[in-house]
This record gives sequence, structure tokens and C-alpha cells, in this order.
Amino acid sequence: MKKETIFIANWKMNLNIHTSEKLISVSREIIHENKKNIKIIFCPQFLLIPNLSRFFVRNSNFYLGAQDCHYNVNGAFTGDSSIDLLKKFNCKYIISGHSERRTVYKELSDDVCKKINLINEFSLLPVLCIGESIEDRKNKNYLNFLSKQILDSIPENTKQLLIAYEPIWSIGTGIIPSVEEIEEISDFIKFCVNKNFPDIQDLKILYGGSVNSSNFEKIITISNINGCLVGGSSINEEEYVKMLKKLI
Ligand code: 13P
Repeated sequence: MKKETIFIANWKMNLNIHTSEKLISVSREIIHENKKNIKIIFCPQFLLIPNLSRFFVRNSNFYLGAQDCHYNVNGAFTGDSSIDLLKKFNCKYIISGHSERRTVYKELSDDVCKKINLINEFSLLPVLCIGESIEDRKNKNYLNFLSKQILDSIPENTKQLLIAYEPIWSIGTGIIPSVEEIEEISDFIKFCVNKNFPDIQDLKILYGGSVNSSNFEKIITISNINGCLVGGSSINEEEYVKMLKKLI
């Protein structure tokens, strides 16, 4: 049987009501009947979620996700959004620890761990992002760095987890690691999680960073890779359609 492929579209702080609805309807035109082995997850900015929520009521190939959440359910946290509302608006997946949150907002793995703990309590699915800087790659320190991110970001109570390997040097740069490099990391993530978190029964590993219609197929056929977390090419309709067509 063809392995399941997960496509997460991280729209970041892009799109509006019209363009976000358009990408969802285009997706439904391409994947118009229920396909067992495909999951498409849309992660819009918070303010788009209430409007898009109505498209994700039934279970199908399409799911709604959020780009982040706070590690408390509510309280005096100006500017943040609550997981309680995300769940009410049909979000099933929540990205946690994206490198843009870690670098721009100085989020620590400790914060990420608290967020994933709450995501687990709400029975939603965490998408943990990890990835090394170019310095750690060049110094050959990347496996140490990634293993520390894994150990520090995953709480004990986790049973189901998606981990997206997104090397910082690849995000938005057009540079992607070789197939062998992605294989090395996906094998390492699997080994590290199995060894340290035996309760995790369902682990999916994704790759993210400069994924586009020319490299997509090559990446999703790597044996331990279950899909991709896509930024720029997921908001470019032509590129996005080309990638979706490779899934069916
Ligand atoms: P790009 O696909 O634009 O490189 O972004 C990757 C990413 O950060 C997805 O979360």
C-alpha cells in the first residue's frame, strides 16, 4: 500500500479571506474524493481561522491547524491566542517551536514543551519543529543540537507526535539538504525518539525548508519521511497545485 503523505501548508503571516478560501477550494477540486493516503493540513494566521473553520467540519483529507498557541489556556498574556478557541474552531493540529518563533520571539524548548503538554491535554496533535543553524551544520554539531531540542521539547505524556525537521539555513533560501542528509536526520530522529520516549506510538517525520514542485516528489519518497511542511510554495497557487497533483 502507498504510504500516507502529510502535507502541511504553513501560510505564516500571509493570505487574506479571499485568497485563503481560494486555495482551499482549489485543493478540493484536485482531491475531490476521499483518498486514504493523503492528509492536507492548512495552518493560517489566527484571524483567518474563524472564517475557514466551517470548511473543516467533516473528516476528510483536509484539516485545519494553527501556527502556534500559548501554554496556558487563558490569562493575562497580551497578544496571544488560546488553544481552547483553536479547538472550538476545528483546529486539529498545532505547530510548536517553529524556528521563526524560537529566533524572533526567543521561545525556548522549555516553552515548547509546555505548549505540547497542553496540546496533548486538549487531545490535539502537536507538530514539533526542530532544525539547526548553518553554524551547527558546518561545525558538525547538528546531531547534538537536534537531540537536545528533541529531549527538551517533548513532554512525558506524549503519545502521538509529528516532528518537522526544518534546518534554519534552508527556510526561504532555496537551498535544501541532499536526500542522504535528510535520510540521516530522519533516521536519527526516529532513533532518538524511540530511545527516549517509548510511549510515543505514532511518530511522523516531516521535512520543511524550500520545498517546491521540483523537489517535492524526491523528498516524500525518502523512506522515513511522512510528508512536508511547506511555507512559500504553499501560498503560490501554481506551485501548490503542482505539488498536490503529485500526491494523487
Ligand atoms: P519555506 O517553504 O518558505 O522555506 O518555509 C518553510 C517553513 O518554515 C515551513 O514551516
